[in-house]
Amino acid sequence: MKCVRCKQKAKILLKRHNAAFCNECFLYYYRNQVTKNIRKYKMFDKKDKILAVISGGKDSMALWDVLVKEGYNVVAMYINLGIGEYSNRSQKVVESFASKNNLPLIVKDIKKEFGLDIYKLSKTLKRSPCSICGSIKRYLFNKVAYDGGFSAVATGHNLDDEAATLLGNVLSWEEGYLARQAPVLPQTHPKLIKKVKPLYTLTERENLYYVLLNKIEFLHEECPHSVGARSILFKEVLNKLEEESPGTKQRFLNGFLEKGRRHFQDVSEKLELRECKTCGQVTTVEECSFCRFVKICNQQQET
Ligand code: FES
Ligand code: ZN
Repeated sequence: MKCVRCKQKAKILLKRHNAAFCNECFLYYYRNQVTKNIRKYKMFDKKDKILAVISGGKDSMALWDVLVKEGYNVVAMYINLGIGEYSNRSQKVVESFASKNNLPLIVKDIKKEFGLDIYKLSKTLKRSPCSICGSIKRYLFNKVAYDGGFSAVATGHNLDDEAATLLGNVLSWEEGYLARQAPVLPQTHPKLIKKVKPLYTLTERENLYYVLLNKIEFLHEECPHSVGARSILFKEVLNKLEEESPGTKQRFLNGFLEKGRRHFQDVSEKLELRECKTCGQVTTVEECSFCRFVKICNQQQET
């Protein structure tokens, strides 16, 4: 097996591209994909200040490293969500990468800073910890980016994540979610910062290979709450299809972005956006869920 670019011995085969690469050319391919995605969707440019959300897993660590190497103005943000040892271990990984490479990092701790506890909230509101965690993260991504004058929030979502989300949304015809699934979510309100996914064409396997080649430390374990999640099942189904027919995930996602997505634009709920009466962040109700969460946790502490 020869590298398609330099004809030396190849180290990794990417069946969906019908291509094999040596390590050096893989890194070239990888960085090229990322910069192409950024340009294609006009995600940001070198003048913009980018907030990269880092969990400590391979995807976000790869995102952080590649954006820094490509010369973007990146500040990383890590959120400690109070998920026991998993959170402590991931915080260490992120902090050590920042200090080794002398990179700016914002750390938010939802318990220390806001008194939030996703387990208490999950019990009181009868919602899964993941859905509470998701709301908190989305709120903080935007709030930190808005307060800090950032132009975009970048996340490490990969091709596998995006194809699995798409499959889930198609299976239950979630029109609103389908309308909003894209590599870029543009600013629809002056206080809502653009969200971007520069790795959306790269697979989990490619992100893993990238961090291994660059000797980047990352947290190997997934969040304990992801066990049994529907998204994992969707990923398994897509992996089966991909094995039989390489390129399936990519065709599914790109086909949707190019041909399918536009059909959902006018059915996307026209939710009225307003500012939260407590914190001023954008919401669709009087008080945003984050502020309600803070109240619930503080009340519980008092009693
Ligand atoms: Fe949020 Fe797992 S990362 S519940
Ligand atoms: Zn609020």
